[in-house]
Amino acid sequence: MVDMTTRYLGLTLPSPVAASASPLSDSIDTLRRLEAAGAGAVVLRSLFEEQIVHESLDLHELLEQWTESYLEAQSFFPALPEHATRPAAYLDAIEQARRELSIPVIASLNGITPGGWTRYARQIEEAGAHAIELNVYFVAANATETAESVEERYATIVAAVRDVVRIPVAVKLSPFFSALPSVARRLVACGADGLVLFNRFMQPDIDLESLTVVPTVRLSSPAELALPIRWIAILRGCGVDVSLAATSGVHASEDVLKALLAGADVTMMASALLIHGPEHLATVVAGVEQWMRDRHYDSVRQMVGSLSHATSPDPAAFERSNYMKALVSYSGAPAQPWAG
Ligand SMILES: Cc1cc2nc3c(=O)[nH]c(=O)nc-3n(C[C@H](O)[C@H](O)[C@H](O)COP(=O)(O)O)c2cc1C
Repeated sequence: MVDMTTRYLGLTLPSPVAASASPLSDSIDTLRRLEAAGAGAVVLRSLFEEQIVHESLDLHELLEQWTESYLEAQSFFPALPEHATRPAAYLDAIEQARRELSIPVIASLNGITPGGWTRYARQIEEAGAHAIELNVYFVAANATETAESVEERYATIVAAVRDVVRIPVAVKLSPFFSALPSVARRLVACGADGLVLFNRFMQPDIDLESLTVVPTVRLSSPAELALPIRWIAILRGCGVDVSLAATSGVHASEDVLKALLAGADVTMMASALLIHGPEHLATVVAGVEQWMRDRHYDSVRQMVGSLSHATSPDPAAFERSNYMKALVSYSGAPAQPWAG
């Protein structure tokens, strides 16, 4: 009997395959199907502060119109902004998921203002989420903003949220840091319990007909897993004491196994579940269990990190030193004219 449990953010998960934030978490029925398929945890889709602000502005405008025509109507409505900005539907969804599921429910927050990050984090905790994932989706497109100030932004958000909640805090990171281990160390010092590698930034496309820039949501391919695997292996090996989750390119049981061996405590799936449906997760978990049984692993925890940067027989493979060797060993290309 293989012990499939894993530890993530101080929580015990029944399996190392979780559903990451996506529209799949919008329905309680789908969440139940994910749990039945063997999900170790579910991450709810992000609560976006921008959306709440828009909603509250819309409501504010509506009230203004009403109160202009019906002055007495003012007394019917609660004071703004506190009530109007309460993300009631999101908090209800957390409460419902907590009531109906027995696996950990992780809420996700995407803030834009310091006050937004802390206010909604507190409300998420009060609604009963087991943990909170901070979706810091930020593209540094300003030439005057330095790498230091980008890192500072992450650190400030984590410290502010850590200050107001007691539940575990995970941070979904961008892959675009020049010194990721140092950033990881800093975020842990600010109170992060877990790091989620990596946030997959939506890439805009250019429409050649209309000559417009089109925001595009592309689902991932398994090839994208190579990036989180490398960095998880390095972070697991460099002594930063933090939970690690792999997201981006986890489609099949082989992907889960590779991420766990590299050092992920849990793997997270979105694209593959959107393509194949929530029940695909059961196939993935079964494949992981079978592989472990075939190789006489007793538990997921025994396997986590056994090929990290610190424990792998060839740690250099995660770094630059194999760069030239890998390029030179490539044999699939047609002969180059200069190769003689
Ligand atoms: C349609 C869609 C919606 C998503 N919504 C969110 C979100 O609300 N918050 C978030 O942190 N990530 C969101 N993600 C990112 C996923 O959680 C995941 O990290 C990413 O897609 C990489 O995993 P994958 O390769 O399994 O798709 C979304 C992804 C997709 C495809």
